[in-house]
Amino acid sequence: MASDTPRLVFIKTFGCQMNVYDSGKMLAQLAHDGFEPTDEWRRADLVIVNTCSVREKPQLKVSSFLGPILQRKRDTGRPMVAVAGCVAQHDGAEFFRRYPAIDLVFGPDGVPRVRELVRAARQRRVLDDQFLEVADYPFVQDLVPSAQREVTGLVTIQKGCDNHCTYCIVPSARGVQVSRPLEQIIEEVRGLAVRGTRDFTLIGQNVNAYGAERGGRSRFAELLEAVHAIPEVWRLRFTTSHPRDMDPATIAAWSRLPRLASHLHLPVQSGSDAVLRRMGRQYTRAHYLDVVAELRRVRPEISLTTDFIIGFPGETRDDFEQSLALLEQVRFMASFSFKYSPRPGTAATRLHDREPVSAEEASDRLRVLQEVQQRIQQESNLACVGRCFEVLVEQPSRHDPNQWMGRTSCFRAVNFPAAPSMAGELVQVRITQANPHSLQGEVVA
Ligand code: 5AD
Ligand code: SF4
Repeated sequence: MASDTPRLVFIKTFGCQMNVYDSGKMLAQLAHDGFEPTDEWRRADLVIVNTCSVREKPQLKVSSFLGPILQRKRDTGRPMVAVAGCVAQHDGAEFFRRYPAIDLVFGPDGVPRVRELVRAARQRRVLDDQFLEVADYPFVQDLVPSAQREVTGLVTIQKGCDNHCTYCIVPSARGVQVSRPLEQIIEEVRGLAVRGTRDFTLIGQNVNAYGAERGGRSRFAELLEAVHAIPEVWRLRFTTSHPRDMDPATIAAWSRLPRLASHLHLPVQSGSDAVLRRMGRQYTRAHYLDVVAELRRVRPEISLTTDFIIGFPGETRDDFEQSLALLEQVRFMASFSFKYSPRPGTAATRLHDREPVSAEEASDRLRVLQEVQQRIQQESNLACVGRCFEVLVEQPSRHDPNQWMGRTSCFRAVNFPAAPSMAGELVQVRITQANPHSLQGEVVA
C-alpha cells in the first residue's frame, strides 16, 4: 500500500454521463485534499477506475484496463488503486479476491464520501457498497476544478431509478430514485454559468420522473422552467427520458421555452408491443408514436435520437421487423443499438418460457438495423447541406487543429474554420458538406 501522500489522481471513466459526472465530482472533492488530475495513469499516485455494468462489454473492458496498472502496483507498490461505479457496487469484495492489489472498492453512493474512503484506504483495504439513506442524500455541490472554459456542462438532478425494466441492472447498481433539491440544481447551474457554460444538460436515469419518487407528482416541467429562467442558459437539454413519463406539461415545454434545445433522446428499445411488455417498459408502440407526433407538433424542427435492444429473449423475426418499421417511420437523427446482454440478477434472465435469440441471429438483426439507420442518417445529413444553423462554438476539432467543433440546437456536430475567440459564442454556420457522423460548414456573417 502507498505510504507516501498521493498527489496526482487519474480517473478512467466507463459508461454513461452519470459516470462522467460522478468522476468530475470525485475530482472536485479530492482537490480539497491536494489532488490534481493527470491524464497519464503512470504518473498518478491514485488511479480510480469508474466502471459500468450496463452490458457485458463495458464490464469486460474494466478487467483489461486494470491489468497493467495492477502489474505496476505489484512491482512498485504504487499507485493506490480504487474501483468505483456500477461494477464495483455489484462485485464488491469479489474484486479483492480477483485482484488482491486493489486498495479500495466503492459503488456510486460512495462518490460523496470519496475523500474519507481514500484516506481510510491508506491504512487498510476498504470496501464500501452501502446505499446511502434516501433522506438527505448528499449530492455533491463542489464544482469540478477547471483551468479552461467549459461551454457545455452536465448537472445531475436525481440519482437512482424506480423503474423495473426487466433487462436493466441500473436500479440494483444505483438504488432507488432520489431527486436533488431544486435550489441545489439552480445553484450548480449558476456556478457553471459564471465560468462560461452556456449549454446545460440535466442528467438522471429517468429525468421525467423528477420529484415523483414515493408516489409524488413529477415536477420536471417546473424544474425546466426554473433552469430556463437563468439568462446564461442559452441551451437546455436533458437525458435520459422515459417515454411513459413524457407528460403533456413536459411536451408543452418545447412550445413555452424557446431555449429548450430542439433535440430529445427518447429510448424506445423495441417497436414490438409484445417485446415492450416483456421488457416491462409500460408503454406501447402507439404511445411512443403519439409522443413523437406531439413533440413534432409543438417543435417541428425537433430531432430525435433513441436506443434499441436487439435480440431480447423471445424476439421473433416479426418483432424485429416492427423495430425496423418504427425506425423508418420516426427517422431518428441517430440511434444507438445494442445486442441484448443478460445481466446477472435481472428479471429478463428468468424469462424461461422464451426462446433466446441465437448470437448469430442477433448480430444479423443488429447489422440490418444499423444499415437502415446509416442510410436514414446520410439522407438527413445531406438534407442539411446549403442550410444555415445557429451553432454554439465548443472546442477545437479533434481531427484538424484549424477547425472548430460546435453543435446545433438539434445536437448535430458541425466542423468549421473559426478563430479561438469565437469559443462559447453562437454563430451562424452554413453547411457545405455532409459526412456520415458530422457536418462541415462555414461561418456566415
Ligand atoms: N442489454 C443490452 N442493452 C442494454 N441497455 C440497457 N441494458 C441492456 C442490456 N441488458 C441499453 C438500453 C439503454 C442503454 C443505455 O443501454 O438501450 O437505453
Ligand atoms: Fe453503466 Fe448504468 Fe451505471 Fe451508467 S448507471 S455507468 S449506464 S450501469
